[in-house]
Amino acid sequence: MSTRSTVILGTGSYAPERVLTNAELAKAVDTSDEWIRTRTGISERRIAAPGESTSDMGVQAARRALVNAGLTPADIDLLVVATITPDYVMPAASCLIQHKLGLRTSTTCFDLNAACSGFLFALDTVCAMVGSGRYQKALVIGVEKLSAIIDWQDRTTCVLFGDGAGAAVIGTSPEPGIGLLGTRLGTSGEHVELLYIPRGGTSAPATAESIAAQDHCIRMKGKEVFKLAVRAMDEAARDILEQHQLRADHISLVIPHQANLRIIEAISEYLDLPMERFFVNVDRYGNTSAASIPIALDEARRAGRIKSGDLTLLVAFGAGLTYGSALIRW
Ligand code: ACO
Repeated sequence: MSTRSTVILGTGSYAPERVLTNAELAKAVDTSDEWIRTRTGISERRIAAPGESTSDMGVQAARRALVNAGLTPADIDLLVVATITPDYVMPAASCLIQHKLGLRTSTTCFDLNAACSGFLFALDTVCAMVGSGRYQKALVIGVEKLSAIIDWQDRTTCVLFGDGAGAAVIGTSPEPGIGLLGTRLGTSGEHVELLYIPRGGTSAPATAESIAAQDHCIRMKGKEVFKLAVRAMDEAARDILEQHQLRADHISLVIPHQANLRIIEAISEYLDLPMERFFVNVDRYGNTSAASIPIALDEARRAGRIKSGDLTLLVAFGAGLTYGSALIRW
């Protein structure tokens, strides 16, 4: 249990300029704008510029979050970056971000991989570390350059993903009962091969043949993932509400992982909470994995959809399979 309230002091997000529309994708693979929109709710996604790296995008989002919090890089003593697409396999993207952002060398920096649930896992970790009193002000970044790990010939995945970054600054407040009230995180490791990158890891290093076959790219059994995602998100949402003796209608806004509009609609139905209480931007960004929730959180705040005293529920799932929920009082 936290010894003090851990709160979000500021948020920021960044999306690369380049917009890739469904119509453009339909010229490259056997798909259509209509299929993509009706099956996923996605109209377009952003793609990083040539030479624009994961750390570059993370820095942009972090700078905006710091400005929003009224802080400078010198105030930060902890940085956790949630990503499955670091600039290099080694070292961590957080090391590059530490340098580019000008964080103190005494800042504790590390990456965390929980795929699309990454921001929730990182938020929970950071809030525990700040709540303990060992750290004062932290940055959590969710950032992905998924365009670099997509097989652009595979229509079952290439239409789904996009690039971007979101960030939050975490600090403390003497006011009890606000900030991160709790999380409910989970993992179902038996489902690894439903959504993974088959080659390029230590169990199956890349070969010339595996690279030619694009096996260093995301492979997914979409239908199975869809069903498990709905079940896991519903369970994570129900559990956290029950733990805090709340009903779904106590939640002002749900910020779900933006993977597929139909998944969000299914959660809305299962929780018996109207879609107006769900923040949706999957139409503009597609699935940006660990960046999805912090981008949505930042956009929701800037759109005035979160007010002081409101209860927000974050809920996610991703490769692993990982899943979870988080409850925030503003
Ligand atoms: N365009 C046209 N047709 C397509 C496309 C496409 N882009 N992709 C697949 N199809 C075809 C299939 O080949 C199939 O054809 P068939 O019936 O002749 O075999 C048909 O469309 C139906 O395919 P399904 O896979 O059954 O389609 P479904 O309605 O399940 O939608 C989708 C597919 C969108 C992938 C869905 O299953 C989904 O969203 N799953 C969840 C994915 C997800 O959210 N992953 C998130 C985690 S990501 C992370 O952690 C990094």
